[in-house]
Amino acid sequence: MNILSVKEALTADVPAGNALVRGWVRTRRDSKTFSFLEINDGSCLKNLQCVVDASCPGYALLKSATTGASVAVSGELVASQGKGQSRELRAASVEIIGVSPDSFPLQKKGHSVEFLRTIPHLRARTNRFGAMFRVRSRLAFAVHQFFQERGFAYVHTPIVTASDCEGAGELFRVTTLPADGAPKDADGNVDFSQDFFGRPAYLTVSGQLEAETLACALGKVYTFGPTFRAENSNTSRHASEFWMIEPEMAFCDVRGDIDVAEALIKYLVADILKNCPDEVEFFGKFVDKTLRERLEHVVEKPFVRVTYTEAVEILRASGEKFEFPIRWGDGLQSEHERFLTEKHFRAPVAVYDYPREAKPFYMRRNDDGKTVAATDLLVPGIGEIVGGSQREERPEKLLEAMREHGLSEKDYGWYLDLRRFGTVPHAGFGLGFERMLMFVTGEGNIRDVIPFPRTPGHA
Ligand code: 4AD
Ligand code: MG
Repeated sequence: MNILSVKEALTADVPAGNALVRGWVRTRRDSKTFSFLEINDGSCLKNLQCVVDASCPGYALLKSATTGASVAVSGELVASQGKGQSRELRAASVEIIGVSPDSFPLQKKGHSVEFLRTIPHLRARTNRFGAMFRVRSRLAFAVHQFFQERGFAYVHTPIVTASDCEGAGELFRVTTLPADGAPKDADGNVDFSQDFFGRPAYLTVSGQLEAETLACALGKVYTFGPTFRAENSNTSRHASEFWMIEPEMAFCDVRGDIDVAEALIKYLVADILKNCPDEVEFFGKFVDKTLRERLEHVVEKPFVRVTYTEAVEILRASGEKFEFPIRWGDGLQSEHERFLTEKHFRAPVAVYDYPREAKPFYMRRNDDGKTVAATDLLVPGIGEIVGGSQREERPEKLLEAMREHGLSEKDYGWYLDLRRFGTVPHAGFGLGFERMLMFVTGEGNIRDVIPFPRTPGHA
């Protein structure tokens, strides 16, 4: 007996002998002498149609093969005469593995995504979420493939850390101290020396600082792991737990950094177009009509590069009414980013050389004294998808920046050591994996690209 997934069954050469297919019933249609069972097993978007004749063993039990029930059907796989499918299974036997009563919430098609968010444990059984999680899987694989093909080493940076990479204070604390009545020191402050790690510890917001240590040993590295931010932004593009891809490259400047980001994004988009065509078609039909066109455009066209200063001039000269009028020195708001990439350039844009004030301590100071070699990559529909920079490799400049940011030399001594011993220019960036998924599927809310979204108030 040949055990086949629905995907394998639909593309198998026929006659394929005796086949066994297992999955969940999407629909059942009965006529007098036979029934059609549409089953889906998550291996692809399509269902396999099974034709169950009244003479088939198990036919009497078929009335319990309702939507959502799990079944095993064996029989002969044949070319289908019907429209819309290439193969069908002529059942020789049907086994109901698990029934699914009428209370199964996914009875009819066309539930709102808002409703589906209330049943994250079941929503992967819909076309939309099944498609999403297959794309998610493929996209993760393509990330590794991109870096492995280019000689990057995959490194694992810690999830529990004592440092705040971005300096934004958006850390989740990791502690074993009791929630009420934590021990206090002589000054009445919480005594973290009695905590599990003997000091305050947090979930990481970024693996960058540790990745830098490995890049300054292995040359080219990347991390790909979960990161956590306790920022109270209730937007469609922020999650409290998200996955980030962070390459870090020794002997690389901010220009080289942007080149790698552009190559990565193009590679990922091309990979999904090639390997998930049914899913792209599905999202193009039901979620974002312009998806395929937009993705092909991204693969073909070079990305735009502008300095922050140029970007501010464009925004100020645009005549556009922004909620937050922009002045040199301000951070770019989402409305500014979207104007640049969606209306002005109509292409992905790398903005670089940002004002120093708004950026973390580790970014390399430019000769103008006012800006740092930072870059954000903006894409249509999303805004910022990548944030990165060249790192400050000069020990005295780094020390100065650390002092300005109130960071202790003792805590970051290891980070300074990278500059004391064989320092090199180096650069890297972070690509938000969920934002990339939103980009390749056209899905508008980050809550719908990750199986179990964590956002403020929701875990
Ligand atoms: O711009 P960010 O904060 O950069 C860093 O953390 C650097 N340390 C990365 C580096 O240079 N190695 O974050 C990088 C990217 C953003 O551009 C965005 O795509 C994503 O991570 N991101 C989020 N995605 C979902 N939810 C959030 N709350 C996110 N915050 C950042
Ligand atoms: Mg950023």
